[in-house]
Amino acid sequence: MTTPVNVTVTGAAGQIGYALLFRIASGAMLGPDTPVRLRLLEIPQAVRAAEGTAMELDDCAFPLLAGIDIHDDPAQGLAGTNIALLVGARPRGPGMERADLLEANGGIFGPQGKAINDGAADDVRVLVVGNPANTNALIAAAHAPDVPAERFTAMTRLDHNRALSQVAARAGVPVADVRRLTIWGNHSATQYPDLFHADVAGTPGGTLTADTAWLTDEFIPTVAKRGAAIIDARGASSAASAANAAIEHTRDWVLGTPEGDWTSAGVVSTGEYGVPEGLVCSFPVTSSGGDWQVVEGLEIDAFSRERIDASVAELTAERDAVRSLGLV
Ligand code: NAI
Repeated sequence: MTTPVNVTVTGAAGQIGYALLFRIASGAMLGPDTPVRLRLLEIPQAVRAAEGTAMELDDCAFPLLAGIDIHDDPAQGLAGTNIALLVGARPRGPGMERADLLEANGGIFGPQGKAINDGAADDVRVLVVGNPANTNALIAAAHAPDVPAERFTAMTRLDHNRALSQVAARAGVPVADVRRLTIWGNHSATQYPDLFHADVAGTPGGTLTADTAWLTDEFIPTVAKRGAAIIDARGASSAASAANAAIEHTRDWVLGTPEGDWTSAGVVSTGEYGVPEGLVCSFPVTSSGGDWQVVEGLEIDAFSRERIDASVAELTAERDAVRSLGLV
């Protein structure tokens, strides 16, 4: 049997963890020929719940699941890991200021970044799901100077998938016929879902953008505020769709994106499209050979530029805030 891939999931006892672990163990993330060993990393109070999830994983008798360990220490939970899905984060509590939130998450993602630096496998790939995802990824990367920065990514795949679904419904075509959408910027309400370069069943996505009222009053806000709409309806935040997006992000990263298409991911900017170097920003990306590449050379008109700049300004402000707190 092939050597199992070590996959660490933080926040394993949470709602996304519950929707994610079974799909990883079933082979949905790394394919039907790759066994996985799961590392569940939790805080001590949630270890018991993680043990319950592990019992259920055992009870599925997944042929690809080579083992499960449970940890409450980042150094142990991330030792030797090949894929780290950093899901657990500190939510904003009542009366919590933005600086408090960033500081609390710095206390999580700093030590996890250091544990990755000190003990993860040489080929480690990191996906940050826990919010604020882009800035948490920045913090983790800053604590892992020996790991190439491009191995740290933040999840905007859920936003990407939400946009695909909205466009398919609007155009009356199957989701599979919508390609080359892009989410730019931050995983937040300032994100910019860009249709201008899309291909919608062979028609340029720009055709849909001719309806400016739909674009600005419906499409962009619906995608950007979908998370809040789910909370309103479900009484809990997106979990299964977030887990699905984490599976798809990692699968595409490791196994490659389909020919002729691209996806969206928060990756460390090297200055593409004028985004300041070092920010973890969502871009159009392809993957081959296990590395993301930003799709370059797209023409950005004034409408898109203004929106990309606004989201990048928010990312810059978050980076400045964590810098002033000494977190990066
Ligand atoms: P949840 O509250 O159900 O679970 C979070 C889990 O993380 C809890 O079990 C908690 O004990 C654990 N945790 C907290 N601190 C930890 C630490 N230091 N180490 C290990 N585990 C720790 O939350 P849920 O719904 O699973 O969401 C998780 C995160 O994902 C949230 O930050 C949420 O905002 C974010 N999210 C991101 C999305 C994206 O598209 N990037 C989409 C949806 C959610």
